[in-house]
Amino acid sequence: AANEVSISIDAKKAGPVINKNIYGQFAEHLGTGIYEGMWVGPDSPIPNTKGWRNDVIGALKKMHVPLVRWPGGCFADEYHWRDGIGARESRPVKMNTNWGNVEERNAVGTHEFFDLVDLLGADAYVNGNLGSGSAQEMAEWMEYMTGDGKSTLAELRRKNGRDKPFKVAFFAVGNEAWGCGGNMTAEYYTNLYNQTVSFLKAPKPYMPKIIASGGHDDDTTWTDYLSKNIRTRVDGISFHYYTLPTGNWSKKGLAIGFGEDQWISTLKNTLRMDTMIKNNVAKLDKNDPKNKISFDVDEWGTWYDVEPGTNPGFLYQQSSLRDAVVAALNFNIFHSYAGRVRMTNIAQMVNVLQAMILTEKDKMLLTPTYHAFEMYVPFQNATALPLTIANNPEYSFGGTSIPEVSASAARGQDGKLYLSLVNTNPNKDVSIDIDVAGEKLTAAKGRVLTAKTMDAHNTFAQPQAIQPASFNATAKAGKLTVNVPAKAVIVVSLE
Ligand code: AHR
Repeated sequence: AANEVSISIDAKKAGPVINKNIYGQFAEHLGTGIYEGMWVGPDSPIPNTKGWRNDVIGALKKMHVPLVRWPGGCFADEYHWRDGIGARESRPVKMNTNWGNVEERNAVGTHEFFDLVDLLGADAYVNGNLGSGSAQEMAEWMEYMTGDGKSTLAELRRKNGRDKPFKVAFFAVGNEAWGCGGNMTAEYYTNLYNQTVSFLKAPKPYMPKIIASGGHDDDTTWTDYLSKNIRTRVDGISFHYYTLPTGNWSKKGLAIGFGEDQWISTLKNTLRMDTMIKNNVAKLDKNDPKNKISFDVDEWGTWYDVEPGTNPGFLYQQSSLRDAVVAALNFNIFHSYAGRVRMTNIAQMVNVLQAMILTEKDKMLLTPTYHAFEMYVPFQNATALPLTIANNPEYSFGGTSIPEVSASAARGQDGKLYLSLVNTNPNKDVSIDIDVAGEKLTAAKGRVLTAKTMDAHNTFAQPQAIQPASFNATAKAGKLTVNVPAKAVIVVSLE
């Protein structure tokens, strides 16, 4: 009976391009996400380039990070860009009031951030301060970064070591305006947005895409209101949704050592992303039928109780096989809305929430989430293909059920056909017949990420406890069947 599960792909009907920025990252001044985790400073004994750790940069390059959002998050609405330019030793010291009230020495500022994205070969997504800043301050930051004339601010940038304007690919006007970004109503935010964006100017080749700060979770009113009432430039409306095992912010659930009840509740909660995007996209389709405004999930990922013994303000958590499954389920959802969802940013890149990398002094490890991102690289800028799953079984535990199989298919930029498969059932493998209309398949070749336990994870003592393994299936009698192990993520090319 297991053989009855089947996936049909129509390789002739090309869907939208899966923008590589769907695989974007987020690096906030929070805990050890930037300081220690990535930035150690040029004088550190830890090998670095311009202050950025060589080991971490090398690993991030291998997963083809397309885009990095910075400096926050909540931090962005308290960040004053002038604090982060000029000689590092004379930069002001502030307190990071959102995240543990620790000292923020402003060692990483605009120039250091652009060094980071240059080293990664990534694009820059800068988040402006609407909450505690002014239209003037934001406009001047834009001029400092992008001015190509001889204005005092452009000359100041040159004096600080950067001749040519920085390329700001995206610029956001505030963050979570409904919460830490100023506790505003959508109406008040929209007025401020219109006012501020009227003064955000840059030479044409350097004009970033402008992102408005939108809603979260089940809310669609921000998307609706903003898309109807913004009168200035807007290229995207952002949206945030975090996956909590319990759904309860005061007791979120454990990162490791959880039971099957929290395995399934976590996956079920993450799958809610589908409905949230669908409902918001419906508003955009109505208010913006020409599809000019992108729907950008610029914060997503798992949020657990912090690792015992760590600063609760630092949001440091382990990442297990479950997180890789969460990431893959989200990727498959994002691909299915690729026509509207053109950027997302997982929270966050290093040492914070659902991180790619964890560090401890001069050591680092790659999390299962890193491996999921790296396995999905062929989907960056690939063309989505329609796919149907027939007879998808339900996986159930303790009264909760979710579909067992999640899948996505695309034509890669290399011309190959790629398929991702997730088996959400931690107890049972699933056999899937693969059919591509009009093509004779001989094999599936790629990699699988799985482990014996639901919370398998890497530690500094065992940094390779869980990593991808090669995976192959060969067609028999003209039929390609792929056996997906329990709790696994697979990415294969279909040959
Ligand atoms: O990613 C951590 C925080 O979550 C961000 O600073 C904020 O925007 C969100 O509430």
